[in-house]
Amino acid sequence: MSAPILQADSVTRTFRLPRTSFRGMRPVLHAVRNVSLDVTEGETLGLVGESGSGKTTLAHMLMGLDKPSEGTVSFRGRRLAHLTKAELRELRASMQIIFQDPNASLDPRLKVGTIITEPLRSLKIEGDHQERLHQLLDAVGLASGAAERYPHEFSGGQRQRIAIARALAPHPKVLIADEPVSALDVSVRAKTLNLLQDLKEQFDLTLVMISHDLSVMHHVCDRVGVMYAGRVVESGPVEHLFDNPEHPYTRTLLDAIPRLRGGNLVADDLADTPPPIDGRAVGCAFASRCSLVLDQCRLAEPPFLPLNQSPGRSVACHVGLSAVKRDSGSAG
Ligand SMILES: Nc1ncnc2c1ncn2[C@@H]1O[C@H](COP(=O)(O)OP(=O)(O)O)[C@@H](O)[C@H]1O
Ligand SMILES: [Mg+2]
Repeated sequence: MSAPILQADSVTRTFRLPRTSFRGMRPVLHAVRNVSLDVTEGETLGLVGESGSGKTTLAHMLMGLDKPSEGTVSFRGRRLAHLTKAELRELRASMQIIFQDPNASLDPRLKVGTIITEPLRSLKIEGDHQERLHQLLDAVGLASGAAERYPHEFSGGQRQRIAIARALAPHPKVLIADEPVSALDVSVRAKTLNLLQDLKEQFDLTLVMISHDLSVMHHVCDRVGVMYAGRVVESGPVEHLFDNPEHPYTRTLLDAIPRLRGGNLVADDLADTPPPIDGRAVGCAFASRCSLVLDQCRLAEPPFLPLNQSPGRSVACHVGLSAVKRDSGSAG
């Protein structure tokens, strides 16, 4: 197995919230809690979890756009916190992100060509920017005339292609796609995901794909980390997660897929994950929604541990679906 290109080691990010009473302390929200995660060079890693589970906060820390409150992030074995200015600039080029909403991320006043080549100027990357621009337009399937037009002249799917081209401009090694298709019309989602996969091959990328929808992960990812209330609660190869989820929350996400596909959302399926605030986090954060809950789940938060019987997989659960299956198997 190749070395990790990105590593998060016991990363936590807290935010101080506004005071709720005149004399009270400012409450502390734990957006990401004690996450350790390796991203292997060349893989596509998925991060899935409901809105508010900490995916974007974690992604920003992985990219060095935000600093962990505790823990460290390393790129190719070098801690981000220890990089010099020049190394940081190199890092900025090496790691690029695309956001959910291409409308918000593209400056409407600029021509597409200027938008796509902007990172080359701001990161002071030398070379023929026009040549790179036309390579990129071609790679994302836009005609070269697009360079002279403005974002509003394009459809949502095309605008996301423009955002992708801009992210690829500085020859990144890692591309983080934060909900890249959630804001797009259903009809162009699959096309956009296929494009990302093709570009990953073409440009030798490592891809981190973030989504609240597990069904997006299936065709695209090699491994998946499932986030709940700021923690990664299960991780492993994508087919294992789909065939044999271990955490009851992963099961909940899988059960939600047909309803997501059908377009009829059941409110609870996509409930926001309540991030733990201050000392309120006792026990497993999922306990109140879990059908397998035991007394110990309400008392102590389960550690995130490798699954002995299944290499490459880890889970944070006192119970575990496989144990439940074994028990019911031996009883029957
Ligand atoms: N700058 C911030 N200040 C305060 N709270 C924040 C900030 N950024 C994120 N949060 C909170 O952290 C939690 C995780 O947010 P986020 O990482 O955006 O989740 P996701 O991307 O999974 O929807 C949410 O409760 C969010 O409100
Ligand atoms: Mg997000």
